[in-house]
Amino acid sequence: MKKHIIMTIMLFLMILIVLTGCGKSNNEKQKTMRVGVVLYTQDDAFINALTDCLKHYFEEMEDENLKIIMTVRDGKDDQSVQDDVVEGMIDAGCDVLCVDLVDRTAPSKIIEMAKKEDIPIIFFNREPVREDLMQWDKMYYVGGDAEQSGIMQGEIAADVIHADEGCDKNGDGRIQYVLLEGEAGHQDAIIRTDSVVKTLMDNNVKLEKLSYQFANWNRAQAENKMTQLIEQYGEEIELVLSNNDEMALGAVAAYDSMGYPEEKRPIIFGIDGLSDVLVAVEEGQIQGTVYNDKEGQARQMAKLAVDLYKGNSLTGYDFKDEKYIILSYKKVDASNIKEYIIDDTGAAK
Ligand code: GAL
Repeated sequence: MKKHIIMTIMLFLMILIVLTGCGKSNNEKQKTMRVGVVLYTQDDAFINALTDCLKHYFEEMEDENLKIIMTVRDGKDDQSVQDDVVEGMIDAGCDVLCVDLVDRTAPSKIIEMAKKEDIPIIFFNREPVREDLMQWDKMYYVGGDAEQSGIMQGEIAADVIHADEGCDKNGDGRIQYVLLEGEAGHQDAIIRTDSVVKTLMDNNVKLEKLSYQFANWNRAQAENKMTQLIEQYGEEIELVLSNNDEMALGAVAAYDSMGYPEEKRPIIFGIDGLSDVLVAVEEGQIQGTVYNDKEGQARQMAKLAVDLYKGNSLTGYDFKDEKYIILSYKKVDASNIKEYIIDDTGAAK
């Protein structure tokens, strides 16, 4: 009997040691999550700013149990290069992928490779085609609503035009405009272009199109295109609508280098709310922009990546169709620019 009691006590102690021992080592062991961030290019100001935000939010999500290593790679504006980069990241052992596709219609190879290794993918900025995104339950998209950004840009421009008769420089009752387009086939470029023009017309602005030019979201290309447009149309141009801020800054640079005085320049509008443009709005070189919520997008991506890695249930997200997280744009013009300048110097909005 005594022997039996001793044995029972010993067994109980052994179980206790095993249980508490395991628990302890689990707590002490810091897990490492590897995130592979693959950009369509590293030569895009908005994407680079968004990537900086992402780094910030991943750092914020680290704790004594979780170390996060974020590796950023360049797709070099070539889908086959991006496919190879993703393959390399998967081979190196990444746990979650964040992908800004080069070609939004060609994610098949990336999806196939990730699915095979069971690595979740968060697509961002360039929205894959719906059918592709629906192929597997571990794929998500985080971005903005392109139509909303075009509508907001149109509303800001209409307000400025209605508030100041001087915008119609030749007084012919119509606004002669040029439009700087992002990229052929890009959903933001196509939808922003259509919706800004439609919104201006819906808001009783009579428009006359002078020219549409692609400048691939890029400041230098936009400066080039705009220089040619100024040479061709001169002071006829009363309005420049740009699909993003970098190209709007390219337009300003063209007017600067051609020595145009302020009163002869058109009104100019961008989208993104990057810090250089916020300063240009404050100084009056650009009349308005639309804030593309890079902080909100990055925060959602970081949270989602960690939840997917930990296998947590995905609560607290404002999902559309269980796959899409769409952040709102915000209008920025002379009336509220101060808020944005202050916010932008802080760590994160
Ligand atoms: C847009 C952004 C542009 C450019 C583009 C790249 O949302 O406004 O500046 O970054 O994405 O896909």
